[in-house]
Amino acid sequence: MALTQSDKLKQLVAAQQRGYSLAQSFYKDLDVYQAEVKNIFLKHWLYAGHVSQIPSSGDYFTVDFDTESVIVLRTAVGAVKAHLNLCRHRGSRICLDQSGSQKSLTCPYHAWSYNLDGELISARNMPDDFARSVNGLHHVNVALLGGLIFICLSNTPLSLDSLRHDLKQPFKLFGMNSMKLAEQKSYRILANWKLAVENYQECYHCAPSHPEFAQIHAMAKSPKVFQTAKVNFSQANQDNPKFMALNRYFDLAEKGQEGYQYDRNPLLPGALSGSVGGKPVAPLLGALQEYDGGASELMIGPLSYFLIYDDHMLGYRFLPVSVDECICEVSWFVEESAVQGQDYQLEQLTWLWDVTTQADKSIIMNNQKGVDSRFYQPGRLSEMESFQQSFLDWYLQTLV
Ligand code: FES
Ligand code: FE
Repeated sequence: MALTQSDKLKQLVAAQQRGYSLAQSFYKDLDVYQAEVKNIFLKHWLYAGHVSQIPSSGDYFTVDFDTESVIVLRTAVGAVKAHLNLCRHRGSRICLDQSGSQKSLTCPYHAWSYNLDGELISARNMPDDFARSVNGLHHVNVALLGGLIFICLSNTPLSLDSLRHDLKQPFKLFGMNSMKLAEQKSYRILANWKLAVENYQECYHCAPSHPEFAQIHAMAKSPKVFQTAKVNFSQANQDNPKFMALNRYFDLAEKGQEGYQYDRNPLLPGALSGSVGGKPVAPLLGALQEYDGGASELMIGPLSYFLIYDDHMLGYRFLPVSVDECICEVSWFVEESAVQGQDYQLEQLTWLWDVTTQADKSIIMNNQKGVDSRFYQPGRLSEMESFQQSFLDWYLQTLV
């Protein structure tokens, strides 16, 4: 008897040995990918963008992943809403540009038109029994975390209450409500999305692959050196609320809550920010009064990551396109009152993570090429890949 899709996935998961990289099928099998769409991409919250991208009524941007496209916009009364970019007539995409400003959303195919709340307001020459009221755009859940906009395509989205409660202090300190998006870059990676996420989860590759990063971040050092630096750093900053550590990302105990993780890590001595020589690159964020020589790692859901230096924040989002392609999108945030050219220079601000992400793109694509080989076998993970291991544990539990 042929195996059902579910049995096949269960067998794959059961055969996976802990402490090793994933078996080839996890990176190539379409059934695995479809299970990921269902159990991960459509269930979890995804960083969509920032409120500073849509300051006025009618401003919108689109977010595309897998086969889906979402329009995130500012409504007539100033609310942030999201709709599927999918016409209710015969299914055309409606917004074809990645961003813009519109008073209403008109489908380019037969000109059905929707207001910013997603209600169908005009459809020409339709039969008398056609009800416009039930042909509005599909609603997409939206949540604002500071100025960060998150979307979720599930009918029963995971709660963000626990995260909002736990992250109140650092959000306030870093002024998550008073940042603006300074720059955004997309990196198209011809590799399975997990190779990109796993690469982001470990710093075993940092020293050999990222000489620029390794000159600034203590994390690129051996685990022993890093742990000592981290303990000293935390002890020296005991009372600072930036220094709490929350590890709930892979903890499935709190059912119904989105996973998240927050931690503050030391930079190397003398470094204050993620820049050439670790020098300051922008005005301090939010309520901060001084640099402490650290950077915070924040993860929300499985695809959205943030790195918060004292004077700017990086957003990292991994968008699966198909089983063998994904997009890594990097966003740079600064304090909203900072003026480009005066308070910060884009080139200095973006240098470290542009050069680092270009290197990552290339190592991830080389990784996929090797994983594609008929001779690929899962390899043993190092001590510096323990966080990646936590991700893999979570992933294997989540997949089936
Ligand atoms: Fe949109 Fe026809 S598909 S109006
Ligand atoms: Fe890297």
